[in-house]
Amino acid sequence: MSRIAYVNGQYLPHNHASVHIEDRGYQFADGVYEVCEIRHRMLLDVPRHMDRLERSLRELQIAMPLDRRIFVSILREVCRRNRVTNGMVYIQVSRGVSPRNHLFPPASVKPSMIITARNTNLEAANKMAAAGIGVFTVPENRWERVDIKSVSLLPNILAKQKAHDNGAGEAWFVDKNGYVTEGSSTNAWIVTAEGTLVTRPAENGILRGITRTRIIDMATELGLEVEERAFTVDEAKAAREAFVTAATSVVMPVTAIDNVVVANGHPGEIASCLRALFFQSSEKLAC
Ligand code: PDD
Repeated sequence: MSRIAYVNGQYLPHNHASVHIEDRGYQFADGVYEVCEIRHRMLLDVPRHMDRLERSLRELQIAMPLDRRIFVSILREVCRRNRVTNGMVYIQVSRGVSPRNHLFPPASVKPSMIITARNTNLEAANKMAAAGIGVFTVPENRWERVDIKSVSLLPNILAKQKAHDNGAGEAWFVDKNGYVTEGSSTNAWIVTAEGTLVTRPAENGILRGITRTRIIDMATELGLEVEERAFTVDEAKAAREAFVTAATSVVMPVTAIDNVVVANGHPGEIASCLRALFFQSSEKLAC
């Protein structure tokens, strides 16, 4: 089956879908994105993703390209046309196409919008979660506005590659005081010896992950203690559990940090439980 992409008002064969060479997303990384998870033909937590998309656009003074209702109906249509059962949908909005100039283009230039969707291998992801992943720490070197989900991800991809080259599945950025900020494409968590879930506050220094917010809701409902505070690499190495969260990996247990084994080296009970309950706790919208 051929894949279909939505590009500026058209549904196109994926292989032929393209944007203009003077798209500001391409030339300046002047745009934002969202990734939503799809499970069992359901889009998860769409209102929260749309809220964050609108916020990111507002912060960068880019107009929302379409009314939210129409936007969401296109999202569902792209998922349907690509017959996604378990996978992800990717949304990108840039400031539009205009002759290269650092200044914003005139207001008449419309934002560009693309949406793609694809199946991912749920079985492989579950296998990875059953084994856990290692993380590799790198110095925080990103700009201050990582709360905006900008497509400008150069430090993130370099960090992820470095982690991969060192045999780890994710990189953790560490600030100059030794505290973990977040992963290259995930939020970072630990569970203390007392069973308290700890994750960095989302006021600054991290992206307010939709999965992170959902996990806070779930944990609270389950009667677990959640503390929003920063933790150090040493505290994480000595923790009862560690894990990361994102739309693409849901809850992924971390079993080693810089080659130091966390607890007994197996995925933690709380992380595995939250992963198992995630789908039923999320807000669902049929594709
Ligand atoms: N990344 N932090 C960063 C830097 C991220 O890039 C992401 C998501 C998260 C988790 O956010 P959420 O729970 O809303 O997915 C945290 C996406 C999945 C990506 O870039 O592919």
